[in-house]
Amino acid sequence: MVFTIAIDGPAAAGKGTISKAVAAHFGFAHLDTGLLYRAVGAKTLAGDEALAAAQALDPADLEGDHLRTPEVAQAASRVAVDPQVRAALVAFQRSFARREGGAVLDGRDIGTVICPNADLKLFVTASAKTRAQRRLDELNGKGLATTFDAVLADVEARDKRDRERETAPLIPAGDAILLDTSDLTAEQAIARAVEHVTRAR
Ligand code: C5P
Repeated sequence: MVFTIAIDGPAAAGKGTISKAVAAHFGFAHLDTGLLYRAVGAKTLAGDEALAAAQALDPADLEGDHLRTPEVAQAASRVAVDPQVRAALVAFQRSFARREGGAVLDGRDIGTVICPNADLKLFVTASAKTRAQRRLDELNGKGLATTFDAVLADVEARDKRDRERETAPLIPAGDAILLDTSDLTAEQAIARAVEHVTRAR
């Protein structure tokens, strides 16, 4: 059975939490596509050229807490503007989406570019302040010291770059279901997403 769920939205809207939980609930595989861009971004911070890094990307490059830092997130959103870098990452994502047993992919352009024929598309949003607070809690939980203002600035800068880029900008697919998680707990947001999947199956 091939069944593809596309979950897009801005930084820290809850995509990752929802995607992981939905994948676990239905026994589907999950790919956090942001990790691909983060891995390429991390390599550019180490001096590599972005396109070469994208073309040589290895699944082992997607592991590790170093990919979760705000510096790597910014580097990711900078390399993500490059159409050639994006193109180099398409085949891996599409083949993951079509794997046997079902797949959940979360990112920015899954419903619009990577899997325009996905069985279900969700566009997850939340206010910038809510997202910054969640990301701050997450970073603090990992022992990374930062402030609310620094996280808010990071989130807003990435959103702006992701929305305004020419190739695969962050925008809901015409047939995506919008899920605003500003006033939802993680459990409530997951329950809504699970309902949508159940209805689509
Ligand atoms: O989702 P995450 O915050 O890990 O993504 C890091 C960056 O990677 C985003 O800000 C965005 O620029 C880029 N990205 C993208 N397309 C995706 C996933 C992530 O452009 N499908």
